[in-house]
Amino acid sequence: MNALRRALCMLLLAAAIVPAVAADMRIEPLPPPARVNAAMAELGRHLFFETRLSGDGSRSCASCHVPSKGFADGQALSRGYNGTEYFRNAPALLSVRLRARMMWDGRSTDLAGVVREMVTDAQFMNGNALIIAERIRQIPPLHAQWRRAFGERNELRGEQAFQAIAEYLKTLDYSPGPVEAALRGESTIPPLAAEGLRLFAGKAGCVQCHNGPLLSDGKPHRLGVPDHPALAREPQRTISLLRHHAEQNLPDPMAERGDVGAYAISKMPAERGSFITPGLRGLAHSGPYMHNGRFATLEEVVDFHDRGGGPGSELQSLGLSARERQALVAFLLYLSGPLQQVAVPPAYDYGTVVDGGRR
Ligand code: HEC
Ligand code: HEC
Repeated sequence: MNALRRALCMLLLAAAIVPAVAADMRIEPLPPPARVNAAMAELGRHLFFETRLSGDGSRSCASCHVPSKGFADGQALSRGYNGTEYFRNAPALLSVRLRARMMWDGRSTDLAGVVREMVTDAQFMNGNALIIAERIRQIPPLHAQWRRAFGERNELRGEQAFQAIAEYLKTLDYSPGPVEAALRGESTIPPLAAEGLRLFAGKAGCVQCHNGPLLSDGKPHRLGVPDHPALAREPQRTISLLRHHAEQNLPDPMAERGDVGAYAISKMPAERGSFITPGLRGLAHSGPYMHNGRFATLEEVVDFHDRGGGPGSELQSLGLSARERQALVAFLLYLSGPLQQVAVPPAYDYGTVVDGGRR
């Protein structure tokens, strides 16, 4: 009897939430630009391109998040810090301020925290906050910018770099493409892309997971994307993967040879092999696609979704016609706005020490 009542309750509850969920499943225009501290964001812009944040001064954020590639890097799997290789794809950073959870496995919700991981982790930049503080003190124009951002009297601390870069990242947005006006009802969508939009929001069911202004629900889903062969073939990548599992305290870290995604963070078996839904803006610039760059083209990605994904996937196979798949690709390309022009700031020289002071 109790069980029956519980089942009935669940049913009523489900009926009550279904309309709310359905209302959530919309593609939305981008919100207005973020309000930022301008002096801090300007310092952050310089630091984003500053190789001296990395341990050996060889790479900056822009080495892996390249502005002309939509702030991704154009490679299937990211190269790691010198002497390491990473096991996942470097994501595009535009409009990252709108992401509910960051990293492919959703391990962070804190932008400055992600920046700290990027700068200090041995896989990315292997930087150290104390050394960074000393280096900045030796670069007079950058030190002056630092004072403008954090105040004359405050002592310079390396950690402030993470805050400044996060402030800069908040200013990076997708340039509104033609789709923005169309979403506001101010223009029409070309016929093939319009057909793609109808499929996307209708029978292809893409909007279930790809919704909101970024076209991402910010949640983990399992599509069964096969592991990248380099994971098993290149020891440096296996090492990075196993180290990640150990760092996340997986019960048996050495036994897991594939990327278990969000499961490594939540330890919930249902999340094994699932990854946070990526946004779909700017795809024309940010391939290869998926958490491990398994697919080079949007056609391959759409074919994969159409087949119902790989082993253990949540997707249903769709049985779309060639024209329908083409229409979906046309819509995805139509979503892609023009690339932002980003001015790369000059790399200032170290100042020389003269008479005990600095020039
Ligand atoms: C060696 C390459 C590399 C460097 C250098 C690097 N990143 Fe990353 N970045 C990555 C990879 C790979 C990921 C995804 C990691 C994952 O999901 O496990 C990532 C993820 C991110 C994310 C999360 C994005 C999202 O949507 O989930 C942000 C933000 C980010 N990086 C910013 C930065 C900043 C700022 C810097 C410089 C301080 C930087 N990165 C330096 C490779 C790099
Ligand atoms: C069940 C949720 C879900 C549905 C439905 C869904 N996707 Fe996805 N999509 C994802 C997830 C999760 C990924 C990333 C998977 C991974 O990396 O392992 C993804 C990746 C993508 C990518 C690659 C983006 C990138 O930057 O790498 C594209 C393009 C895409 N989906 C388009 C579509 C289209 C078109 C449809 C409808 C035919 C669709 N998706 C339906 C969850 C979904």
